[in-house]
Amino acid sequence: MKARVFSGVQPSGNLHIGNYLGALKNWVEIQENYESIWGIVDLHAVTVYQEPAELRSKILETAALFLAVGIDPKQSSIVAQSAVPAHTELAWLLTCVTPVGWLERMTQYKAKSQAQETIGDGLLQYPVLMAADILIYQAAIVPVGDDQAQHLELTRDIAQRFNSLYGDTFTMPATHLPAVGARVMGLDDPEKKMSKSATGTGHAIGLLDPIDQVRKKIMRATTDSQPAVDCDTMGAGVANLLNIFQAFGGWTAEKMQAHFSGMRYGDLKKQVAEMVIAKLEPLQTRYYEIMAEPGYVSGVLNHGAERVSPIANSTVQLVKERMGLYTGA
Ligand code: TRP
Repeated sequence: MKARVFSGVQPSGNLHIGNYLGALKNWVEIQENYESIWGIVDLHAVTVYQEPAELRSKILETAALFLAVGIDPKQSSIVAQSAVPAHTELAWLLTCVTPVGWLERMTQYKAKSQAQETIGDGLLQYPVLMAADILIYQAAIVPVGDDQAQHLELTRDIAQRFNSLYGDTFTMPATHLPAVGARVMGLDDPEKKMSKSATGTGHAIGLLDPIDQVRKKIMRATTDSQPAVDCDTMGAGVANLLNIFQAFGGWTAEKMQAHFSGMRYGDLKKQVAEMVIAKLEPLQTRYYEIMAEPGYVSGVLNHGAERVSPIANSTVQLVKERMGLYTGA
């Protein structure tokens, strides 16, 4: 039997090439080796206010992007988290074994709550819901970016605590960090990881950005005061452009060095732009084809929820039995 893998992204904001190279591309590559479940974690998105109509369309857009990048709904289950109510039920049960102190220590909580005047309780509970997403499928591995590593540690702590209180129930999920080079930085500020929420127009390249905009953003990317590529002394901006080219093109380090050493930044940017565009164009074509087919994306989501619900429900049933809750008869 194949081991199970789960990961998820929020349907907020447009997915960008950092999400693709750091997560989605990897999901596509590993989907056939695991029993794969990929979540659109809309319940996490509403920990901060979302305009309802916008959220509704973002969920479908995110699912269509999963399909457009090559997640195969025959091999993988694509699931909207809110379509499987057992996630929420398990989250409550796990909340009851989670000390508040563990949650208050989370760096993402500290950062997000500082920016808010009133802090929704959901923001504090966020990591418990995330633990539920993973543990409900008894996932063996969870591919995430390094910014989520602390949440995965907490997931294991919660699982361990539950197991020691009520007996062995949950599989310990392993964190699966992306390969080196999968970390894409902002084009305008190469010291910061490319982010969905950054506001600068030159910061991120959205997977659905119009092609002429993609070219413009790359041509305007921050470099450094040198005129041409020198692999020993280059700054973070040039390294980021090379990294993006290499990640899309799949070139070896030797080939990269031989090809780009001494190349003037203007030419480097042109070549990076052409590489990125060559990958995004077919992806965008597929995306718009998928979106043009009425009912297709929601059909994939409904099918995904149907397929994974028995797994999720049986985990919740087991947890309730272990805890002594009423499970009928
Ligand atoms: N917190 C994750 C993020 O912001 C999203 C997420 C929610 C997730 N539940 C998950 C990731 C379960 C992996 C597994 O990126």
